[in-house]
Amino acid sequence: MNNLIDGRAIAAQIQGELAARVAVLKSRGVVPGLAFVRVGEDAASKVYVGRKEKACAELGIISETHVLAEKTSEAELLALIAKLNAAKHLHGILVQAPLPKQIRESVIYSSVLPTKDVDGFHPVNVGKLMLGDESGFKPCTPAGVVELLVRSGVKTDGAEVVVLGRGNIVGKPMAAMLCQKGKSANSTVTICHSATRDIKAHCQRADIIVAALGVAEFLKADMVKPGAVIMDVGVNRVPDATSKTGTKLVGDVDFKNIQPIAGKITPNPGGVGPMTIAMLLQNTVRAAEQSSN
Ligand code: GUN
Repeated sequence: MNNLIDGRAIAAQIQGELAARVAVLKSRGVVPGLAFVRVGEDAASKVYVGRKEKACAELGIISETHVLAEKTSEAELLALIAKLNAAKHLHGILVQAPLPKQIRESVIYSSVLPTKDVDGFHPVNVGKLMLGDESGFKPCTPAGVVELLVRSGVKTDGAEVVVLGRGNIVGKPMAAMLCQKGKSANSTVTICHSATRDIKAHCQRADIIVAALGVAEFLKADMVKPGAVIMDVGVNRVPDATSKTGTKLVGDVDFKNIQPIAGKITPNPGGVGPMTIAMLLQNTVRAAEQSSN
């Protein structure tokens, strides 16, 4: 049974569409530019930023990466962002989370110019998302989930959706996107989190479940209605005696037992992950188009 939602293939299709837009920009003398900022030595952040740099290079987006020491102060990071905000060749700025404890993420994300905020984390862009104002930038991971649903022919109109997790990067914006009035939305959304009384009961009536709570293989087969669509956003490192490193990555979904009963399901890896990058590229191309209009 092939009920897999192939995130790599859909991301490649989107990157093909973006390549045409990059070519138009280049014919007008504009090369999209994106700055990455990474603070400290978080291992996962290094991998993520590395993948994003590679995707930019493949599409013809010029990227530059600023790596700051773990002990960097908030003021030092704000000074760098002020420079990047002012740089004409840069259309997007991405400050990779998590940041060290001495730096307040809310202060940093509020300091990025909203027009360069390709992460969609600035309060202006968060507000526009809540208002259904399409002129803002949407956070990449939940935007990627919506795109996967649309391009896989999943009907969201009137669907019961359960979002597991209420984080600012995925859970909350995911719920905001899917409950919006309009095409590729119009869902009835329930957000479940650590204080939810009976998560299983909520999940069992869902037509679509987005798992983004950061607990390895949290969603089990007995929580899923047969035929439901399962989107796995989780990336969790767990012990694995059979692997050379002694660990492996798993999602928030018990894939092996859920795939046979799911209507559609994202593999992990190869599902939501590649789409986060595709949406970042899309936001950056749009930022470049808007700055040069
Ligand atoms: N850390 C985990 N996901 C993200 C993301 O989408 N953007 C940034 N900047 N940091 C992250």
